[in-house]
Amino acid sequence: MKPIRDRLSAKLFAAHLIVIFIGVVILAITLQLIIPTAFSHHMGGMMDLPMMGGMGKGSGFGITLFDSFRASMFEALGYAVTASVLVALFVSLLLSRRIVEPIRTLTDASQHIAEGHYDERVFVNGSDEIAHLATRFNQMATQLEQVESMRRQLIGDVTHELRTPLTSIKGYMEVLVDGVLPSNAETFNQIHSEAERLSRLVDDLQELSRVEAKAFSLDVRSVAVSDLVQTTVKRLSPQARDKRIKLQSNLPADLPPIWADEDRITQVLVNLVANAIQYTPEGGEVIISAARQADDVLVSVKDSGIGIPPEHIANLFTRFYRVDKSRSRTAGGGSGIGLTLAKHLVEAHGGRIWTESKGEGQGSTFTFSLKVSTLEH
Ligand SMILES: Nc1ncnc2c1ncn2[C@@H]1O[C@H](COP(=O)(O)OP(=O)(O)OP(=O)(O)O)[C@@H](O)[C@H]1O
Ligand SMILES: [Mg+2]
Repeated sequence: MKPIRDRLSAKLFAAHLIVIFIGVVILAITLQLIIPTAFSHHMGGMMDLPMMGGMGKGSGFGITLFDSFRASMFEALGYAVTASVLVALFVSLLLSRRIVEPIRTLTDASQHIAEGHYDERVFVNGSDEIAHLATRFNQMATQLEQVESMRRQLIGDVTHELRTPLTSIKGYMEVLVDGVLPSNAETFNQIHSEAERLSRLVDDLQELSRVEAKAFSLDVRSVAVSDLVQTTVKRLSPQARDKRIKLQSNLPADLPPIWADEDRITQVLVNLVANAIQYTPEGGEVIISAARQADDVLVSVKDSGIGIPPEHIANLFTRFYRVDKSRSRTAGGGSGIGLTLAKHLVEAHGGRIWTESKGEGQGSTFTFSLKVSTLEH
């Protein structure tokens, strides 16, 4: 048997008993103090009682009558107390069932979740505070379930991504040891580039985990879009030149400044333009443009490249997603993280990012929106 302080039903019963006890004490004191005067008053002064100082006519009979009356009152009070205690017992049992049962269900469910059964949910009945608690509990369980499935997915994806270059390096080493491949500069370069890819992947993963966990701060200021574009073009011109791709920008003169963290948004633009160059064949073109739309500035990167089949568009911003995995790998070893990072960074600014493409071979356009800065640049 648990002590009272460990049981809600016992506490409720004790609370009811205290209320009854206080009520009875007040009633008894009131009766004791008020009844003699009230009794005499209601008897029309016919029976003055000794405690009131009266020695009038019929006082002996009055005293007997009054004693009987008082005894009856206290007897009735005794029955009332017994009945109240029984009712209190019944009410506290009923109340505790209504309160304790759902709490017990929640306790069992949280125990299940703690053991790793993230699909556990509780039934929500009514709309009181306990029902709200149950609703919030279910929301929490859903979020935990999502986080857990993301964690599993991430571990699966990362393992897969790391295994590819590792297998490749291992393969090269084996054929080198067996003497199947000559130990020349070309072979070592191949191994080196696989190791480079591995190291780039690890850097990207680190950045991704930081951004996905929102473990970064934004240094938001008023920024001129032309500065962002200039930095990006400067950084990626060598790559464009190597592929004989025309990299141009087209910005209206009256474009207002935007509200952004310059480094982060440059990172977004660099990712988009690097993709455009990577997925555009030699001799193509890439144009960076911007336009104001109400309180937003839309920045677009348009290329004349390989385009994106419509069924892939919705998934491009999912981590590790590549339209054609083998193609990406041979064409420079993309790991499918760049657009995921871009999306997180733009959304952290309160903006949006999206893609349009008429289909394979028709080029693509990536656009993101950011708020116009109200401060003068
Ligand atoms: N401009 C583009 N034209 C055609 N396809 C594109 C373009 N940009 C992205 N994609 C497709 O979207 C996929 C995801 O792009 P993302 O930038 O996230 O990864 P990645 O370029 O493969 O690798 P990295 O993480 O190194 O950037 C690419 O693999 C490619 O299939
Ligand atoms: Mg990329």
